[in-house]
Amino acid sequence: MPQILLTNATLACIDGAAGYGLRENAALLVDAGRIAWIGSTRDCPVSAASTDASGVEVYDCGGKLVTPGLIDCHSHLVYGGDRADEFEMRLEGASYAEIAESGGGIISTVNATRAASLEQLFEQALPRARQLMSEGLTTLEIKSGYGLDSANEIKMLRAAAMIERELGLRVVKTFLGAHALPPEYAGRSDDYIELVCNEMLPAAHAEGLVDAVDVFIESIAFSVEQGERVFATAQQLGLPIKAHVEQLSDLGGAVMAANHGALSVDHIEYLQAEDVVTLANNHCVAVLLPGAFYVLREQQLPPLSALREQGVDIAIASDSNPGSSPLHSLLLTMNMACTLFRMTPAEALRGVTLNAARALGLEQQIGSLEPGKVADLVIWDVDRPAMLSYRIGINPCVAVMQAGHWRESVKQAVA
Ligand code: NIG
Ligand code: FE
Repeated sequence: MPQILLTNATLACIDGAAGYGLRENAALLVDAGRIAWIGSTRDCPVSAASTDASGVEVYDCGGKLVTPGLIDCHSHLVYGGDRADEFEMRLEGASYAEIAESGGGIISTVNATRAASLEQLFEQALPRARQLMSEGLTTLEIKSGYGLDSANEIKMLRAAAMIERELGLRVVKTFLGAHALPPEYAGRSDDYIELVCNEMLPAAHAEGLVDAVDVFIESIAFSVEQGERVFATAQQLGLPIKAHVEQLSDLGGAVMAANHGALSVDHIEYLQAEDVVTLANNHCVAVLLPGAFYVLREQQLPPLSALREQGVDIAIASDSNPGSSPLHSLLLTMNMACTLFRMTPAEALRGVTLNAARALGLEQQIGSLEPGKVADLVIWDVDRPAMLSYRIGINPCVAVMQAGHWRESVKQAVA
C-alpha cells in the first residue's frame, strides 16, 4: 500500500474539546491505512518534489475542506417493504403511537421483513447504503429489530454483514430484538423478553453478528424493567448496550441505561433537564435524531442546553427507517440538527464524526483526524465546514478514503 500525502488542505480535525479543530494550508500523510502525520504543507515530511522517487502518492487539495469520514451511529437500514401509506395516514391526523397500537407501524415492517429473503433484504438495503456513502459515509450502524424471532433477527444481521462486505463500508451490527412485541406474543411481553434473553440474543451472538445491544423503552414497546433484563443478558455476554428512550414520553429509560454504562441513549426529546447529569456522570453519549423529530412533527425538543451545560457528548444520526425517519442523508441530518434543535454547525459535524464514534465505542480508531487513527476521510468542495450544515440538497463530496483506500468512483475528482 503506497503512502498517500494530501497537501494544501483545510483540515477539520475534530480533535479538540470543541469546534472544528481547523488547520489551514495543512498536509496529512497516510501510511498503511492510518493517519501517520499531520502538519503544515510547508513542513511535509516528504516534499512534493521527491514524491515520485519515494513512491508517495500526492494529492493537492487546493484549499478544499477535509473532514473525518462521516459516521451514522443509529440506523435501521435493513428492512422489507415501506410505510408510505402510514405517511399519508399521519398527514390525515393519525399519530405514530395510534398506528402502532392498531397493528401498523413497526409490526407492519416486521411482517414485510419476515416475508423477505436474505438476498431481498440485502438488495433493498444496498441503494440506501450507497446513498449515505455518496455523502462521505465511512461507518454505518445497522440495527436488527424487524425480525422479532431468532431466524429473522439473524437474517437481518446477516444482510447487514453482507452490506459491509459488498461496499467496503465499516458496519456496526446492533441487536434490537426488544424493538416491539411480535403479534404471536400479544399480552405476554415478559415471555417475549425471556425469549430475547435466553434464545434470540445468544443465538445471534454465537454467530458473531452482534456488536452491541439496543432496546426500545416506551409505552408502545418495553418497560424500563424489561430493558434492564435485556441489558443484564448483554453484559453477561460482554456486549455494549444502548437504548431508544424518552422518544414519546418520559419513562426513565435514559437514566437506567446510563447507570448501566450504556454507550448512548438515543432520541431523548422527553428527557428531563435534571436527569442529564446522570448521562454526564456515566460518559453516556446523547444521540439526537432530528429526522424522526421532523417526520413525526414532534414539538418536544431534546434538552440541549442541559446537555451542553453538563458537557455531555452529543451525536446525531439519520435513524434511517421506513416509519419514523425515511432519511438517507447525513448532510440533511446535520442541517436539521441545526435548524430544528439549534445545534451549531460545529456541533453537527462533531455529531457525525467523533461523537458518533463514541456512541459506537470506536473513538480510539475513528471519528477525528489524528495520527494513529484509521485513515477514513472525506474531501469536500467547500472552503469551510459550516457549508456542510448550511446548504440543503447539494452534495459537495468529491473524494472518500476508507482505511487508506480511495473509493474508485470518486478518486478522479481530486487526482
Ligand atoms: O428509532 N423508536 C423506535 N424505533 C424507530 C422507529 C422504527 C419504525 O418506526 O419502524 C426509531 O424511530
Ligand atoms: Fe431508531
